[in-house]
Amino acid sequence: MSEVAFVGPPRRALAGTVAVPGDKSIAHRALLLGALAEGLTRIARFPGSADTRSTLGAIRALGARADEAGDVVQVQGGGPGLGERTHATIDCGNSGTTMRLGAGLVAGACGAIVLDGDASLRRRPMERVAEPLRGMGAEVTTTDGRAPVTVRGGGLRGIEWTLPVPSAQVKSAVLLAGLRAHGTTRVRERHRSRDHTERLLPAFGVEVTREGDGVAVAGGQHLRAVEVTLPGDASSAAFFVVAALLVAGSELRLAEVGVNPTRTGFLHVLRRMGAAIDVVDVHERAGEPRGTLVVRAAPLHATAIAAEEVPALIDELPVLAVAAALADGTTTIEGAGELRVKESDRLAALEQLACLGVGLRTSADGLAVQGSAGRPLRAGRIASAGDHRIAMAFAVAGLVADGGVEITDPACAAVSFPGFFERLAALGATVERR
Ligand code: S3P
Repeated sequence: MSEVAFVGPPRRALAGTVAVPGDKSIAHRALLLGALAEGLTRIARFPGSADTRSTLGAIRALGARADEAGDVVQVQGGGPGLGERTHATIDCGNSGTTMRLGAGLVAGACGAIVLDGDASLRRRPMERVAEPLRGMGAEVTTTDGRAPVTVRGGGLRGIEWTLPVPSAQVKSAVLLAGLRAHGTTRVRERHRSRDHTERLLPAFGVEVTREGDGVAVAGGQHLRAVEVTLPGDASSAAFFVVAALLVAGSELRLAEVGVNPTRTGFLHVLRRMGAAIDVVDVHERAGEPRGTLVVRAAPLHATAIAAEEVPALIDELPVLAVAAALADGTTTIEGAGELRVKESDRLAALEQLACLGVGLRTSADGLAVQGSAGRPLRAGRIASAGDHRIAMAFAVAGLVADGGVEITDPACAAVSFPGFFERLAALGATVERR
């Protein structure tokens, strides 16, 4: 993809079926657990996004074998000794999940691993994961609280840890370390974050106890390899859900999308805004519910998104802000300070909605967006800041901007969604490389 992508209103209403890549969050977990298991784990509908490739590289560096063929990855696990006596630097690229979950995984083995990443990842907070791992007995050093992070692991003991910020990455890192610790590891969280790790561990034969606001694992359990087909990524689907809602006359179907309740907060918010979204053919595989989303265009009205709702829709806030920009009234989002430490400062990046004629106000941890009540946005040029979700959210804005939207560094969409712009074009949107 060239330096700039132009996305303009489609020639016709969006219609048909859109396939989204497999779930990125679950893919990372399946690779890491497969690496720790004994035997051959087979992961189908593997997304092949840049982030999940970073985790593939990480498990290979630790001694697991991983082969990719089409959208299937097979992992020959290293078993409980994975990464023992390994000295390596792992490039996590842009992927916070690779770095944070990876830190938890390597903390369980006696070795010295340096976890590093790109400029964006080097700006993100890592003490939140270093602290509990130190509490378990690992030696972890960060660079002013950030990457590079060095982990010298082994000899861990279980811990009781209450998450100071809701973070599935930190929760999962502690649980992964707990698998190779002496005794029980328990993580508590005030607001429930995505629970893919807790759901996938039992598939690998690990006993997990979930009670109240906590989840616990006993150390020393052996993982056995599994076959898993990933559901479609709800976060990737969200861009097409909002696109279908905003482009008059549209109707889209998104098949086999993950509908885990810790991920589908955006559907509740959009329905509250007046959206017509059905979830049909719901079924469960490998502990994860999946379904087909059917979305029809609808006029939207403003809503208030409260802090308690944020963990279940954190990654969808950029595209929800675009939906809010077209709604009737002013939408408010509270308790979203975590957006400032994602792949970019997403609250700052969203201020660019103003370039498209949208009235908005940001605070330290929130956003108020004045909707246009369906009036098209203005044309403009947006910096993606190398952030995949910002690039894709503004591409959706381009569908309803008179004169379209130009987005810099659009290739970053491949961090989670390779083929995103091609899929948008296939639906009839005007997509040009400039
Ligand atoms: C993720 C957890 C969330 C989310 C990220 C993926 C995961 O991050 O924003 O895109 O796979 O566990 P935090 O744990 O930092 O909230």
